[in-house]
Amino acid sequence: MEVIIQKDYEQLSKTAANIVVEVLNAKPNAVLGMATGSTPLGLYQELVRLFKAEQLDFSHVTTFNLDEYVGLAPNHPQSYHYFMHEHFFKHVNISPENINIPSGSTSNYPAFCAWYEQRIAECGGIDLQILGIGSDGHIAFNEPTSSLSSSTRLKTLSKQTIDDNARFFENRKDVPIYAITMGVGTILEARKIMLLASGKGKAKAIARTIEGPITSMITASALQLHRDTKVIIDDAAASELEMRDYYDFIYAAKPQAPQT
Ligand code: PGA
Repeated sequence: MEVIIQKDYEQLSKTAANIVVEVLNAKPNAVLGMATGSTPLGLYQELVRLFKAEQLDFSHVTTFNLDEYVGLAPNHPQSYHYFMHEHFFKHVNISPENINIPSGSTSNYPAFCAWYEQRIAECGGIDLQILGIGSDGHIAFNEPTSSLSSSTRLKTLSKQTIDDNARFFENRKDVPIYAITMGVGTILEARKIMLLASGKGKAKAIARTIEGPITSMITASALQLHRDTKVIIDDAAASELEMRDYYDFIYAAKPQAPQT
């Protein structure tokens, strides 16, 4: 893992956007894995700015979202379909037929999940997967004790996740209990991964992800097995890392480092 600590949320969002730009420069028809939640909002804003100001082109890009709540229609304001359209897709030149988001309203979840995995494979796999992290250490909706080799499937949300996400709903009881989510195994198949985290509330999960043992209790810790993962966090999210000085040292010395 490469740990990149930035001074604040704005800087981490810009750093993350630069990585997307690098991927698109190398491969204009890249397949991007998209995440929802508060954390990637700054990244999406920066990508929209680059689209408008510098003609960053999404016309050949394909996207796959990580997850969706079960039982929310695509036009429900708390659905991840709605989130993605409002915060990103409607502002850039992506082709609607290239957008893939798990269905929260299919009549056959096992068949849909199998199809979603197959569709990712048909599109050549995910080139860059964007991730947030839950305060319980989840990536996508892979809650504690999820199989670290899991594929897309239905999951029951943890109490912690329901509590965390209740802020977006009028009542806690409105938060869906089930979600359809890419698995940890699906995520690990991406060629590149970047995990973003901001704020003190993520500090413990980030420390356990980077420096703890690999455990299904913190599904993000499975990223230690991935060959090309960048963890981009702000000062507050880095506050519980034991090896923080080392990560800063590596990052500062990177421009002079031998090219690998
Ligand atoms: P957040 O959610 O970005 O809204 O904190 C992250 C997550 O649960 O994966």
